Amino acid sequence: KPTLELNNTSKETFSSAGFILSAIGSSVGLGNMWKFPYITGLYGGAAFFLLFTICLVVIGLPILLAELTIGRGSRGNASSAFTILSGHKYWSYFGGLGVLAAFVIMAFYTVVAGWTMHYAVQSFTGKLFSGGDFGAQFENFNATLQPVGWQIVVMIISVFVVAKGISGGIEKFNKVLIPGLIIILLVLMVRALSLPGAGAGVEFFLKPDFSKLTVESALVALGHAFFSLSLGMGTMLTYGAYVEKRQSLGTATLAVGFGDLLYALVAGLIIFPTSFAFGIPSSAGPGLVFVALPAAFDAMWMGEFFGGLFFILLAIAALTSAISILEVPVAFVMDKFRTTRAKAASSVGALCLVFGIPAALSLYGPLSGFLPGGKSIFDWMDFLGSYVLLPLGGLVVTLFTGYVWKHAGQEAGLTSGWYKLWMFLLRYIAPFLVIAVFIYSIYSN
Ligand code: PFF
Repeated sequence: KPTLELNNTSKETFSSAGFILSAIGSSVGLGNMWKFPYITGLYGGAAFFLLFTICLVVIGLPILLAELTIGRGSRGNASSAFTILSGHKYWSYFGGLGVLAAFVIMAFYTVVAGWTMHYAVQSFTGKLFSGGDFGAQFENFNATLQPVGWQIVVMIISVFVVAKGISGGIEKFNKVLIPGLIIILLVLMVRALSLPGAGAGVEFFLKPDFSKLTVESALVALGHAFFSLSLGMGTMLTYGAYVEKRQSLGTATLAVGFGDLLYALVAGLIIFPTSFAFGIPSSAGPGLVFVALPAAFDAMWMGEFFGGLFFILLAIAALTSAISILEVPVAFVMDKFRTTRAKAASSVGALCLVFGIPAALSLYGPLSGFLPGGKSIFDWMDFLGSYVLLPLGGLVVTLFTGYVWKHAGQEAGLTSGWYKLWMFLLRYIAPFLVIAVFIYSIYSN
């Protein structure tokens, strides 16, 4: 039997607006601005966007609500929550998968977040545009130790914010940065849509060609809906544990889901019109944002400014997500080892760098020749974190809420019709689709 002390009743709490902004800050990130555009480009534009929207609503939202509910119902961390609610010790090991996923994802997420900061500086100073070939610049930058420096900067900021706590750190950070992010986003959207030739990009993004739909694109869309909503690694569960009882979790779920979707929509309305206007192929892959878009900014009036603004936007989005990822293992360590926030945050951050620095050096740097199983360290972490541990963590949440925990309905506070729909999706739809994504990911890698 779990002891009551597992259930940390003296937890800090978010304010209502602070919670919604922080949860949106977590979901809106590199997933929306870096991954989403290039996979949309690769998997057929508008048809893919439509699939992503369906997956987000039908599978993503129910699991998001489940995570928030488990978090608030238990007031535990991503591992202990399951034991607190079920009374069985072994559930904490399943939950532990989420903690592990967060740790692995943090290790490589900080690398990409670091790139965005470097690119913001390079763009504002104009160095990016006087340096010639953008592909070569990206590789040369990655061959130096600079990415590690930027990664450490990202980690220090994240550790600092998380160490300051929920209301004094995470909530404050998001309350300042999310409104800033929305302003920059709108400025860039107006700029992109007013470019001559932008219409073709809008069409590519919003006018679906259903012949492009495949099973593969559906599975990628579902996997991305997971990543984009920050599901499967206990982030929303961990944030949920700091939410007050009077907050409606249903409303929060809708706000986060539609906030994330709207952000992806606007990001697409920046990236596709810009790349189409300057003849850049939308299928440029992972380099789209760091290699292809600079070429567009280069050719644009006041491109240094708009390019700099774009990368600042990316950096803000990345940082508000990075702190939510870090909070997962930090909350776990605080409970498990009964230590202070500051100590937990700095030790988890340091340990995460031990694994993350090799990832930063593995793309074009000194460790690029080390390719166990044909993958770089960076790619292994992305694969393990995003494609193996994330769906597994999502499955744990789905099965636990659908079949094990009997009081989820009370905690979620849904009306009976919504409750039935929620349970139907969690019991009979989500698990099978999540398993399908998992099998597909393993198979296609
Ligand atoms: N949702 C974030 C993004 O789209 O970039 C990434 C992320 C954050 C994934 C937190 C998972 C997570 F738990």
